[in-house]
Amino acid sequence: MAVAVLLVVRAAPSRAAAADTSAQGRHGMVVAETPEASAAGVEILRSGGNAVDAACAAALATGVTHAASCGIGGGGFMLIYLSSTGKFYALDYRERAPLKATATMFLRDGKPDESLARDGALAIAVPGEIAGIDAALRRYGTMNFQKVAAPAIRLARDGFPLGDHLAREIAMMREQLARDPGLSSVFLKPDGSAPKPGDLVFEKTLADTLQKLGNKPDDNFYQGPIADELAQFIQSHGGIITAEDFASYDPVWREPLHRAYQGYEVYTMPPPSSGGVVLEMLGMLEPGHLGGLGVNSPPYLARMIEVMREGFIDREQYGDPDFVKVPIVELLSPQHINQERERALHHKMGHPAEPAHDHGTANLIAADAEGNVVVLTTTINTSFGSKLMDPKLGIILNNEMDDFAVAPGVPNAFHLQGATANEIAPGKRPLSSMAPTIVVRRGNPVIAAGGSGGPTILTGVLQALIDVIDFHLGPRASVDLPRVHEQAAPDTVFIEEKMPAKTVNALKQMGYPVKTVPKLGAVGVMTIAPGNLRGAGDPRKGGLAIGY
Ligand code: GLY
Repeated sequence: MAVAVLLVVRAAPSRAAAADTSAQGRHGMVVAETPEASAAGVEILRSGGNAVDAACAAALATGVTHAASCGIGGGGFMLIYLSSTGKFYALDYRERAPLKATATMFLRDGKPDESLARDGALAIAVPGEIAGIDAALRRYGTMNFQKVAAPAIRLARDGFPLGDHLAREIAMMREQLARDPGLSSVFLKPDGSAPKPGDLVFEKTLADTLQKLGNKPDDNFYQGPIADELAQFIQSHGGIITAEDFASYDPVWREPLHRAYQGYEVYTMPPPSSGGVVLEMLGMLEPGHLGGLGVNSPPYLARMIEVMREGFIDREQYGDPDFVKVPIVELLSPQHINQERERALHHKMGHPAEPAHDHGTANLIAADAEGNVVVLTTTINTSFGSKLMDPKLGIILNNEMDDFAVAPGVPNAFHLQGATANEIAPGKRPLSSMAPTIVVRRGNPVIAAGGSGGPTILTGVLQALIDVIDFHLGPRASVDLPRVHEQAAPDTVFIEEKMPAKTVNALKQMGYPVKTVPKLGAVGVMTIAPGNLRGAGDPRKGGLAIGY
């Protein structure tokens, strides 16, 4: 053990320049992707709410302050651990394909037109965010919707200082935002220029909508004037979502997936998410004694890269379990994992390709003094979703239809290959990479992690778990370490620029098709012990942990 720790200290790159996004707490903690969202969650904890209340408050506040990434026009997944039952609950409030959707809706003259699945009203899937928050609060929360929505309403109505991340997204998307009257009125200045970090942003119409949802948010969002307005807005822009799509939307409580790893039990989100891929990757790594290899050492990274690739090859078998049989028992079986590990040793290298741009989606973690823990990941898919905001409601609508296979073999915005398990069908949920994860030791949660950034979520969460379990790093050291990502297609090893050049060169010499990139997604991490919560938000997206 002492030798492994020594290796860690020597191999870890300098973190001197990194902002401290970590915190420690005795009673409660929230790790979110904006300081305002973490503060919103802690405000709710301090006023007597539990981790479920805090997570819902932080999610709504993230939807305001990270509006390009998530919001009530999107959907997500929530993994809840309740100390009173000692059980895990997985809530799927993923968006659904409209009832009028067809497998060929993005084909034009027989050819796929991916742009239709990314921008505009056909790209919109039926939002699940409000249904999910309502379901979680009713079943496991202690507060009503208006109480947990209060910080988000305040931020939207009174304004919040624009963070670096959202400022960058606005600047990058300025031309597209300018084409939409709703988005431009909120996120661009009157002269059409992009606001600067620190400028106050107001989302007053969204504040009014959140208030109008009252304490029956599900009824008020999915039936009546709000649903009618959204359906009318979407159809007037060429979309196919109807009031019936809203009225028939339901979130689903699912059985979490879990698997043993190094004496821990790892719980994560089942299909239609692909948390199972993280479990497969952990299974392949298990016999590896990673702790002896050194943090981010070339042999360690080579092993990770091979395992990531194999996990992503299997991801093509994942989809909405209400529509396709996902062979999850077989995929997580020791026989299959042994075959995958064998496959990983014998692959041919590809050529480096360009990374996808994605800074959408957001993750957060909440823990309370009673020992309840929630990890929640939420999204409108890629930055600013469909690039349409309903100006009467202040709601930015997702482009989650792009997470389906537009056609078999056609890659989506994340370069993920489309497969038949994930083809479009009416009412189906698109496959996701969101993987809220909680790790248990001797019956108690000890680590919580989740991330944002499309497929980099799976590899980011994997690396965070290995950092804590195998290398005994704390949350701050874990989020600050440079990460790698490989997703089989393109067969390219993406490496963060912060990785030491010596390491990158060593991987190149091994023959890996390497591409350095500024950042790979964002991951939040918390370690949990009685009276000792430690957490870190990811500085890549402005995340922050707040504890008390
Ligand atoms: N929209 C990104 C994901 O669900 O993976």
